[in-house]
Amino acid sequence: MNYFTFHRPDLAADLCNRLAGKGLVDASSGLFLSAPRRVGKSTFLKEDLIPEAIRRGWLPVYVDLWVNKDRDPALLIADTLKVQLQLHEGKLKKAARSIGLSKVIVMGALTFDLSRPGLPEDITITDVLEELHNRTKQPIVLIIDEAQHALSTPAGVTAMFALKSARDKLNSSDADRKLLLVFTGSNRDKLANLVLNRTQPFFGSGITPFPLLDRNFTNAFTTWANASLAEGNKLEEEGVSHAFSLVGHRPEMLRDLIGQVAISGEAGNLTSLIEKGADINSRLWDEFESEFASLTSIQKAVLQVLILKGAPWSPFAEESMAAYRAITGQDTISTATVQTALDGLRDRSLVWRESRGAYTLEDQGFAEWFKHRRILQISSEN
Ligand SMILES: Nc1ncnc2c1ncn2[C@@H]1O[C@H](COP(=O)(O)OP(=O)(O)OP(=O)(O)O)[C@@H](O)[C@H]1O
Ligand SMILES: [Mg+2]
Repeated sequence: MNYFTFHRPDLAADLCNRLAGKGLVDASSGLFLSAPRRVGKSTFLKEDLIPEAIRRGWLPVYVDLWVNKDRDPALLIADTLKVQLQLHEGKLKKAARSIGLSKVIVMGALTFDLSRPGLPEDITITDVLEELHNRTKQPIVLIIDEAQHALSTPAGVTAMFALKSARDKLNSSDADRKLLLVFTGSNRDKLANLVLNRTQPFFGSGITPFPLLDRNFTNAFTTWANASLAEGNKLEEEGVSHAFSLVGHRPEMLRDLIGQVAISGEAGNLTSLIEKGADINSRLWDEFESEFASLTSIQKAVLQVLILKGAPWSPFAEESMAAYRAITGQDTISTATVQTALDGLRDRSLVWRESRGAYTLEDQGFAEWFKHRRILQISSEN
């Protein structure tokens, strides 16, 4: 089967309007998009948001902070901007390059070396962005994918502050915005750190949940997949949509699952296969299984109570504490122990704490898996 990409031009246009300060929601201080892992954030940025930005005459600059987790986020940002400067250098400098100064960037009176990582001490990210704008005369839309990762190093945090001051500086002089910022994150808690805390660079901005692919996607996917499936082995939109929500709105897992079902000639029975559950051994569920197995017993108990109680759920209520004791078989469990367990679950992006302090599951698919697993266990015990 060929690669299938579903486009969301309307969503891209809407988000660009927000960035430009047009439309109902104003994201001119920065657009913060969060969604769980593997739901298509990066694909959307590259396939839809960047093309829309280009159509509007903006200069998109994309940095993925996860491309190399060992590399300091600040360096990744600086180096991407340097490459952009080089791409947009004037004719004079191109001439200089032709006589052998190939690795040098000239910025006003300053020159610096492209082959050395980062920026020299006397040049800031704001300088570089300003220079890039002067060269291109285009509004720059800087897209930082997995931006929460910047908080993992002091230099990364400093880089975020630098972006904020660059934004304030570049956007101060007139109504036209010269620097637009987009940040995405697959850990809401961590991304929220950039905006919730007074000491953090983008304090006061809001987090926008990145809209997950929906029924329009699954319908288009169904049509696309059916085109290469034999008569009598066709998918139904309803079943595909249901399967998609079971795998937590993750396109590649849907592809795997549908692939397995289609190969065995059972595409038409997708819905009943899902209901039976047993035959569908999706990779996601294997992942959940091993993730769950690696938790401590108190973490397992806390997660289990959260899933079975559903929101709103109070982790320290006596009822919850009694449930942990029953599950773990321990006579006493302190609230500090529960807090540590919750922190551990948050670190692993299993549980999310809303700013109001309520806890919810990061990925609803986990609850589906858990309930399914429980049904299997109960039926095998009987
Ligand atoms: N619009 C789409 N149409 C078809 N397939 C898609 C679409 N968006 C994402 N996918 C597929 O889903 C998978 C995950 O996509 P992507 O890497 O964009 O997600 P992500 O949310 O950025 O993941 P991560 O959390 O790992 O950064 C990829 O295999 C991609 O091909
Ligand atoms: Mg991504």
